[in-house]
Amino acid sequence: MKIAPSLLSCDFSKMGEEIVRMDKSGADWMHLDIMDGHFVPNITFGAPVIKAVRKYTDKPFDVHLMISNPLKYADDFADAGADIITFHIECDSDIEKTIEKIRSRGVKPGLVIKPKTPASAVFPYLDKIDLVLVMTVEPGFGGQSFMADMLPKVTKIKDECKKRGIEIPVEVDGGIGEATIELAAKAGVDICVAGTAVFKADDPAKVIANLQSIK
Ligand code: DX5
Ligand code: ZN
Repeated sequence: MKIAPSLLSCDFSKMGEEIVRMDKSGADWMHLDIMDGHFVPNITFGAPVIKAVRKYTDKPFDVHLMISNPLKYADDFADAGADIITFHIECDSDIEKTIEKIRSRGVKPGLVIKPKTPASAVFPYLDKIDLVLVMTVEPGFGGQSFMADMLPKVTKIKDECKKRGIEIPVEVDGGIGEATIELAAKAGVDICVAGTAVFKADDPAKVIANLQSIK
């Protein structure tokens, strides 16, 4: 399993050092949660912050946009150094145009679905995207409980891809830790985001290694 620590749970006063700490702890990707206080009831940080911390690691930046108008800001996040930009299918932007915009900037586009959105919502876009992110909590905050009943969506997406002869990695986000990752692995998840479980651990390297060892 690949592990993407969510910087939402880091010490924001030293985000650069926190990224180095996660890099040294064996993180596969860095997950950066962008919230606009409109699409979700919380505000985090924007493209200038990502640009400022980009130099602290060579690992991929997995930028999760929880914003109402991702099309408007896609260029900013591409300029800031995102490698992957995922945005919500429930947003207000034109989905195809946003996918095309992200790809035109040499960044991998991915779609995210909230807990109430069915797996089938992403089916029309499967041939155009590089990742699907299935939320296993309501987006907006770290430290919430894992919703195991989201996992059948992962299996449905994986099955649909197989039917079409394509392979798209599926990521889950929210409530992932040592107690829940096995369920995710069984459902066919490729990448797990983990905030609280990694950042609140005494030994993040050990936790990341344990999570990565789950097949
Ligand atoms: C929630 C964010 C997540 C969050 C995960 O809206 O998208 O990335 O930081 O945090 P944990 O692992 O604590 O649930
Ligand atoms: Zn996230």
